[in-house]
Amino acid sequence: MATSHMATTALSAIIFMLLSLAIAAQSRVDVGGKPKTTDFIVEACKNASNFSRGYNEGYNYVTPEFCISTLQSDNRSAGAKDYRDLALIPVDILKDRVVTAGGNVKKMLLNTKNSTSTTARHLRICELDYAATASNLNFCDALMRDYQGDRRSEDQDNDGPREYELSECVENVIHVSRYCAFVLPAMPGAEALAKESYELDMLMNLSFSLLSLYTLDTTLD
Ligand SMILES: *[C@@H]1O[C@H](CO)[C@@H](O)[C@H](O)[C@H]1NC(C)=O
Ligand SMILES: *[C@@H]1O[C@H](CO)[C@@H](O)[C@H](O)[C@H]1NC(C)=O
Ligand SMILES: *[C@@H]1O[C@H](CO)[C@@H](O)[C@H](O)[C@H]1NC(C)=O
Ligand SMILES: *[C@@H]1O[C@H](CO)[C@@H](O)[C@H](O)[C@H]1NC(C)=O
Ligand SMILES: *[C@@H]1O[C@H](CO)[C@@H](O)[C@H](O)[C@H]1NC(C)=O
Repeated sequence: MATSHMATTALSAIIFMLLSLAIAAQSRVDVGGKPKTTDFIVEACKNASNFSRGYNEGYNYVTPEFCISTLQSDNRSAGAKDYRDLALIPVDILKDRVVTAGGNVKKMLLNTKNSTSTTARHLRICELDYAATASNLNFCDALMRDYQGDRRSEDQDNDGPREYELSECVENVIHVSRYCAFVLPAMPGAEALAKESYELDMLMNLSFSLLSLYTLDTTLD
């Protein structure tokens, strides 16, 4: 009896110790770097959403929730130093998703029997549109990575991209992708494609808003 009681006590002690260790480890993680990074993302997203609301005049703007969940879906956001680092994340997500969206348009086109119908004509152009969007995104991605501060001085040749070119580049992607965004919602049977196009649009607008704040920030210095 006594032995069994002692064993139970020892076991409880061990369990208690393990639990304490687990709790200590947990709180160390919580107290460490993470909350600070999250604060930056939350504040950056608040500002990006505010910018987007102003830019789009309150219609279809990027919400803070969408911004936060998108950025946190990629673990690189934890190491982001500035708005450009954050803006690269939606661009990276977009590069794959636009290619997928183009593939989905092609599938619907292959299933469209009448090749001279309005649907077929619109899908053919939308397929090209997504290809152009993907290629423009790759260009912006490279430009954003290459940017190392506004290094051109008055009397020198351009040495690398200027800071305002980053947001202009993504703004151009938004314009390029307009064709699909315009025709898909009105196309019968293309509800999934229209939803996809809307989500891509949100990601582009998110990157654009973050880059616009990056430009404003740098200009103020
Ligand atoms: C967000 O905007 C406010 C007000 O303009 C500014 O004070 C703050 O520094 C901004 N936050 C970030 C993370 O840029
Ligand atoms: C929100 O955006 C407007 C411009 O659209 C700007 O004037 C204002 O300072 C911003 N507020 C914050 C808190 O960033
Ligand atoms: C994205 O922004 C453009 C204007 O820049 C706007 O017309 C469009 O409705 C926005 N799209 C979404 C899904 O928010
Ligand atoms: C982020 O996740 C990827 C795989 O999803 C992993 O290879 C990488 O090491 C992670 N990076 C960090 C900083 O945690
Ligand atoms: C294909 O679509 C065009 C344009 O809507 C129409 O004129 C034509 O009759 C259709 N052809 C067939 C076989 O349905």
